[in-house]
Amino acid sequence: AVAGLPFLPLGPQTSTGTLLRSDLPLPPRFTLPLTVPPEARLLTDGPTDVCDLRVRSAPASILPGVTTRITGYDGLFPGPTIRTRRGRPLRLRLHNDDDRPTVLHLHGGRTPPDSDGYPTDLVRPGTVRSYDFPLRQRAAGLWYHDHTMDFTGPQVYRGLAGHVLHTDDEEGDLGLPAGEQELPLLLCDRAFDADGQLKYPARSSDPAVPGVQEAFMGGVIGDVLLVNGVPSPVHEAAAVRYRLRLLNACNARRLQLELDPPPPGGAGLVRIGTDGGLLGHPLPTDRITLASGERADVIVDLGRYPVGTDVVLRNTFDRGPAGEVLLLRVVRAGRDESRVPDTLSRPEPLDPARAEAVRTFAFRLERTTGGSAARDSMAHSGHGMGDPGTGALVWTVNGLPFGAGDVATPRLGATEIWRFSTDLHHPVHLHLAHFQVLGADGRVDPDQGWKDTLDLLPGATAQVVVRFDGYRGRYVLHCHNLEHEDMAMMADFTVV
Ligand code: C2O
Ligand code: CU
Repeated sequence: AVAGLPFLPLGPQTSTGTLLRSDLPLPPRFTLPLTVPPEARLLTDGPTDVCDLRVRSAPASILPGVTTRITGYDGLFPGPTIRTRRGRPLRLRLHNDDDRPTVLHLHGGRTPPDSDGYPTDLVRPGTVRSYDFPLRQRAAGLWYHDHTMDFTGPQVYRGLAGHVLHTDDEEGDLGLPAGEQELPLLLCDRAFDADGQLKYPARSSDPAVPGVQEAFMGGVIGDVLLVNGVPSPVHEAAAVRYRLRLLNACNARRLQLELDPPPPGGAGLVRIGTDGGLLGHPLPTDRITLASGERADVIVDLGRYPVGTDVVLRNTFDRGPAGEVLLLRVVRAGRDESRVPDTLSRPEPLDPARAEAVRTFAFRLERTTGGSAARDSMAHSGHGMGDPGTGALVWTVNGLPFGAGDVATPRLGATEIWRFSTDLHHPVHLHLAHFQVLGADGRVDPDQGWKDTLDLLPGATAQVVVRFDGYRGRYVLHCHNLEHEDMAMMADFTVV
C-alpha cells in the first residue's frame, strides 16, 4: 500500500525517513572532546526536590568556528542532566522564555495525567508551569523532551531534550561504575545549512504541494551524528569499566551500535538495563540496536584492551559520518573499584495469562479518500494541518489520526495484552504504562526487561503485556518517529 513513496531507502537501518545533507564541510571525526551536560541544580523543599528549567533560544558552538542558534533547556543542547531518586518527588518548574509554546514530557515517567505533558497542554511564551513527578518507580535512564502538538519534531530538533538519571537503593548498592566512569550519552542526528544553522524541512500543510508534505512526513534524518551535542567526539579514557547511559534522541534515525575493534573474545557491550531499568542479569553482546526514544544501559570494559588502543563506538547502519559515533581512546591504566554483579535486579515478570483484554493497534499510512474517517477526523481534530484533502497521506493508528478519541480504556490496575502491527518502521511508545515483550512462544522475553518504547520493524507484529498502574486519566501512545507523531500517528487512551 505504500509503494512509490518518496522516502529514501535507507538500507538495512529501516528508518522511515528523508536524509538531509549538510551544506558546509563537516569537522574531521574524532577531534572534538566529548562533553557531558551539566547536572541540573535541585533545591530541596521538604520531601520534594525542585528544579527550575528555562526554555530559551541561545547560540551554541556545535561545529568548530560556527555559531548555531538552538533552543534548549537553560539554553543548552542537550539540556542539563537531572538526577532523581526513588522516593523523592520532583517538581520541575518550566519557565518558557522562548517565543513558541512548549510542553514537557518525562519519557518513561509514571506521572499523573496533569503533569504528563499532554500535547495540547501548552506552556505559553512568558509563562511558568510546574510539573509534578512522583517518581515512585525503579531506577532507570529516563529522559525529558518537548511534546508540543504537531511540533515535537522541530522543537526537539532545535535542542529540547535531556537525560533524567533516576536511581534507587537497589541500584546504588550494586557498585556499578560511577563518577568519571559513568557517561550519559545522548545521541541525535542533525543537518546544517551553509550558515551552520540547523536544517529542518519547511512545513507545509498545503495539499497543493504534496511533494513537500510527503518528503516532510517521512521523518527527518541528518547526516551528522552528535553525542551530547558534539559531532563524532573523542574521549580520553582509562583502561577501566565504563557505564554508558545510551539514549537514542534522534527524530527518526535507528542506530546499531558496535565496538570497533571488538575486545578479544568479543561481546564487548554488556547490556545491564533497558528503558525501564536494570535487567535481571548482565547480557554480553556485540551489537545493540536503538530506535528513537529507546535507551540502553551498557558496560564497556576498556580494561580488556591494551593502553594505547583506539576503540570506536560505531553506528553500523551508516557508512558515512553518521556511522562514527564516539572514539574511546584508552590513554592510561586505571584502578577499577566498580563491580558488575551477576544478579542485578529481580524484575517482576508480568503474567500474560492474567490479561483482562487483548487489544490490537495497527500503525500504518493511509491515503485519504473523500469521506474517509481519517480525512474527516483530521479536518475536525484541531491539527495545524487542517483538512488534508483527498489523496493526502496520513500516519494513523487503527486508521485514525490523533484526536479521534480513545483507542483503549484499560481499568486501573489491569494487565492487558497489546498487539502492534506496522507497515513501515515505527517505534511505538506508551506513556504511563511500562510493558514486557512477549516472545514467539507467548512468554515474556526476560532479555528485553521493562520497556516503554518498542522498536517495530517493517511488516512486524509484536505483542506486549502491559500493566496500567498508578493513575487514572488520559494518556497517549504514539510513534516515536517524531515527524510521524507530528503527522498524527498518536492516539489517546484513558485509564478508568
Ligand atoms: Cu518520548 Cu510521548 O514521548
Ligand atoms: Cu512511525
